[in-house]
Amino acid sequence: MKTLQLQLRFLIPLLVALVLAALVVLPLMDRLNLRWFSRDLTIRGTLVAGALADSIDEAVASGSTARLQALFDRTARDERLLAIGLCSKNGVLLRHSAAYPTSLTCAAAHTTAEQPDHRLELPTGAVHVGVYPAGNNHASGDTLVLLHDLSFVDRRSQDTRQYLVIFIIGLGLVIALITMVVAQLSWRGWVSGMRAILRGEGLIRPLLPPPELQPVVAEVRARLRDLEDEFRRSQGLVTEWDAERLRALLHTQLRGDQVIVVSNREPYIHERGADGVVVKRPASGLVTAVEPVMRACSGTWIAHGSGSADRDVVDANDRVGVPPGHPEYRLRRIWLSQAEEQGYYYGFANEGLWPLCHVAHVRPVFREADWEQYRIVNQRFADAVVQEARGEDPVVLVQDYHFALLPQMIAERLPRATVLTFWHIPWPNPESFGICPWRREILQGMLGSTILGFHTQFHCKNFIETVDRYLEARIEHEHSSISFQGQETLIASYPISIEWPSEAQRSAWPPVAECRRRVFERLGLAADTCLAVGVDRFDYTKGILERLYAVENLLDRYPQWRGRFVFVQVAAPTRSALEEYRSFRERIERTAERIDTRFGTPGYKPVHLLIEHHEHDAVNELFRAADMCVVTSLHDGMNLVSKEFVAARDDVQGVLILSRFAGAAREMTEALIVNPYHVEESADALHRAATMPVAEQRERMGALRMTVRENNVYRWAGRMLADAGRWRLRARIEARVQRYMQS
Ligand code: F6P
Repeated sequence: MKTLQLQLRFLIPLLVALVLAALVVLPLMDRLNLRWFSRDLTIRGTLVAGALADSIDEAVASGSTARLQALFDRTARDERLLAIGLCSKNGVLLRHSAAYPTSLTCAAAHTTAEQPDHRLELPTGAVHVGVYPAGNNHASGDTLVLLHDLSFVDRRSQDTRQYLVIFIIGLGLVIALITMVVAQLSWRGWVSGMRAILRGEGLIRPLLPPPELQPVVAEVRARLRDLEDEFRRSQGLVTEWDAERLRALLHTQLRGDQVIVVSNREPYIHERGADGVVVKRPASGLVTAVEPVMRACSGTWIAHGSGSADRDVVDANDRVGVPPGHPEYRLRRIWLSQAEEQGYYYGFANEGLWPLCHVAHVRPVFREADWEQYRIVNQRFADAVVQEARGEDPVVLVQDYHFALLPQMIAERLPRATVLTFWHIPWPNPESFGICPWRREILQGMLGSTILGFHTQFHCKNFIETVDRYLEARIEHEHSSISFQGQETLIASYPISIEWPSEAQRSAWPPVAECRRRVFERLGLAADTCLAVGVDRFDYTKGILERLYAVENLLDRYPQWRGRFVFVQVAAPTRSALEEYRSFRERIERTAERIDTRFGTPGYKPVHLLIEHHEHDAVNELFRAADMCVVTSLHDGMNLVSKEFVAARDDVQGVLILSRFAGAAREMTEALIVNPYHVEESADALHRAATMPVAEQRERMGALRMTVRENNVYRWAGRMLADAGRWRLRARIEARVQRYMQS
């Protein structure tokens, strides 16, 4: 259909051009034809008159009218010459040949002969009228009128017209054919190839820019970059989001109201170690994003206390100031029994909702008992929110799929609270979601939110469609809001991000060369090794297996990398109590071993699996040491690893390979975008990253850094809180108006 439209876009103007050509060119040709022939006939007439001059003089001198008549009749036998007439000085027709139209007066003949085309329409047809001096004595004033037949001119004009029409149609067809071929091959292939290249997609060979296009691609990319820079500059400071601005927003738009965050995972875990209590930071995108926001808000964070020493450090109300050592906000811990954790966290959240929303080909498991625990734990967190609330209208930030029922529960107890729920994982289409036995309860619970956020517009759309399918709710597509049982919820996309490292943080980082030296030494890598890294929780949605297949395929198809390409996968153990995760881990280990056996040599191990939790500094060091970072999620709400890699590369080098199924791919278009299910494409991307010129790396990384820096986590929180502020203002005005009306 698109191609057809494209072709029509070419063909319609072409047809218009042809019709115009026909309308203008044909009459013009006719006129030109007539002019040319008329000029020829005038010359011919002059010759004829010259040739007859002597004979006319002699006939006139002899006084024999019969002789003159015979001369005229003989001359008029010529094929083209229709008739001859002799006019006296004072305009009387003295003599004429038989075919001469007597209705044609000498005066009329003279007038016609003065016209540019000498043409006269007679009942017998069109004639050319020429008037010449008769005989050699021009002083006599007698003139000779010669009438030439013009029908042959019309015939020739018609022939020319026919040839011209055939020529125009033929030309039109040829051009149309060429246009269609160009539209099909060149436009579709060339331009989409060009677009794909600009997006960093299309790594499979047919879409690689042909050598002759490479300068054009570079030029277009440079122009796009200039335009983007210009746009960003024109936006000035308005685009800059940082902790300070977020704090200011909280004070102006939310009037310093209390902010409470609720999440399952806590930002700091106290563990008992051999040397006493140690504090750990969990491997969680959610924590990475919400922690800096919380530090800026100085509110309360309610989370499950899962560390072995968590109880040892809290006060009588289960609260502890964090970050440890220099507290900026309060952490309130909720204790869960084993049965609660099993049913709510492992069972319903991670065996049910997680695979349901990720659609990563792992079957969701739903058990009544898990659902029951999920409900109970949600209620316990709702109670905690009420306990922690200082007033009746706090701003509550509910995080993730562990708390689908919580918004409704809070709304029932604190109806004036503003509940911002953020769903950190994808939202599936209505059919996929429909298999959940408690789909209505979950949707109703979520619609207790004032604002419900997803990473992408696509997930918002899926959610709205799901509500449309399973609940009797009023949906306002124009405002992207849903009204259900008197409560209105705004559905919006807020792409989450990271805190951009400050100048002070960056200056504390060891230089890239030093990071590389340390990592290479630790892993025993040869100096000329190309190092690729992956950093994930050990989750089946992250595409780790597909990544290993891509590495294997690279070593298979590009043997020059054997001995020189090393892939390091950091995998933080997660949800190991679940069978699905345990068997996934075993599969990864087996695959890594197989690749190492197949391509490894003494001193060379292509795949290094580091199955342990790495603290932020260690991950940062690895990112800085690597030539590329590989993110191949099969489905991911956002994926913050990709953003952390970019933030770590202040040397503006390194290549990001990113799955098209991660929300991050929508923003980070300068990464090499891959379909992780397509092993060869991913392997090609590894090769392309490993051979990417320094200048291109700088260009891509520079753009990515600008994107992440601007769209940082403060912007994410700021946009959500600003929307909440507007909402609260509206609610306050409405309440005031209502009070006024009642008084
Ligand atoms: O992706 C959603 C998310 O909540 C992340 O924030 C986090 O990385 C993960 O899921 C939760 O992991 P865990 O179950 O270990 O808390």
